[in-house]
Amino acid sequence: QAGDLADEMGLRAYLVGGFVRDLLLGSGHFDIDLVVEGDGIRFAQECGRRLSLKVVAHGHFGTATLHGLEGFKADIASARKEIYEKPAALPCVSKGGIKDDLFRRDFTINAMAIGINRHCYGEIFDFYGGRRDLESKTIRAMHPLSFIDDPTRILRAVRFEKRFSFRLESRTLLWIRQALARRMLFCVQKHRLRDELILIFKERRPVPVLKRLWGLCGYSFISPGLVYREGWNAAHTRMQKAACWFAAHAAHKRSLDTYVMLMCLFFEGLALRRLKETMLAFAFRKGESRRVLSYRKDAAVLERRLAKQDLRPSEAYRLLEPLAYEVVVLVYALSAKKRVKDRIRDYLVVHHGTRLHVRGEDLAFLGFRPGPHFKKILMAILYAKVDGKLEGKNEELALAKK
Ligand code: CTP
Repeated sequence: QAGDLADEMGLRAYLVGGFVRDLLLGSGHFDIDLVVEGDGIRFAQECGRRLSLKVVAHGHFGTATLHGLEGFKADIASARKEIYEKPAALPCVSKGGIKDDLFRRDFTINAMAIGINRHCYGEIFDFYGGRRDLESKTIRAMHPLSFIDDPTRILRAVRFEKRFSFRLESRTLLWIRQALARRMLFCVQKHRLRDELILIFKERRPVPVLKRLWGLCGYSFISPGLVYREGWNAAHTRMQKAACWFAAHAAHKRSLDTYVMLMCLFFEGLALRRLKETMLAFAFRKGESRRVLSYRKDAAVLERRLAKQDLRPSEAYRLLEPLAYEVVVLVYALSAKKRVKDRIRDYLVVHHGTRLHVRGEDLAFLGFRPGPHFKKILMAILYAKVDGKLEGKNEELALAKK
């Protein structure tokens, strides 16, 4: 349909980028990337109107995103040329054809297009040897200045290398080393590095990527003091197993941000002050920073307290309840102590699902005025219930009266 519309509007439109790469690799890629020779935003608006999709236009960049049902997303851009006037800064953009648009990209495997107009429907446009490199499992940059223009591509190179088990072509590796020698990773805006780091944390197998990065340049461009740890691989496997277990058994059905759990591990070695500075400097999202900081501050104490012999279930509840699930499940995954694991399991599977019979209306009926003490009373009942001291509404009411 988009192809027909392009024909009607007299435009040429192409599928590009990771979508084409993954299609040729036979693996799934859910986000669609389209490039239009001409006005991409006008094309997106027309697509949105005809297909009843929501359109979000980014006029400054000449791009738009279509949003549909079940998370469907398509990015549409106007074909463009890019000129980098300063290393690591955003480029100057001008109109171009598909060949220019593909040339400005990171790697040959990401620089192919598929026509969607009727006359070239399904035709692959591969000006730079992308198919050859896919077949020989090679990550090849488009030109020698690629990593100077955009140093975040160094992180992308190792991400794709490890994701697909490809190898970095020797000149590409040389260009990466040259960019690293010029300390280009220290020149990029930190939020751009953050976005790439998060993409690494979200990979299915992120630890080999982190290890490769460590071998290439260390992590000082993120923060001095950060080091690679051999234990991460085993920890990541345990973490994922625990996340699956959580999804199947936890009383509160909420999916875990496993990438945040890996972030907790990654940043664990930093001193608290340095960690706070890094989270701020890279402008990690509030929720991400909060959980990473909480793990750094709370995990060891939590494990020690949960290991105590005479801890009541309600005491474990009180320790665990304020913490994010990612922190709790990570401690569960990594603790070697059976008692700690059992207590966290009981909390997640049984106690955290505890429901009271008594409600606010019942307390009002007993003559309590609504206010902060309402919560206090309800929590006292909850803790007693978690400790197995109460059964049924009458016992809960009796405790409330006390
Ligand atoms: N791109 C680029 N340089 C970058 C980022 C992106 O040239 N620093 C280009 C690549 O052609 C890439 C496309 O923009 O294929 C889309 O970028 P993105 O969605 O980040 O990457 P994908 O290739 O789709 O990778 P993934 O599978 O991780 O989503």
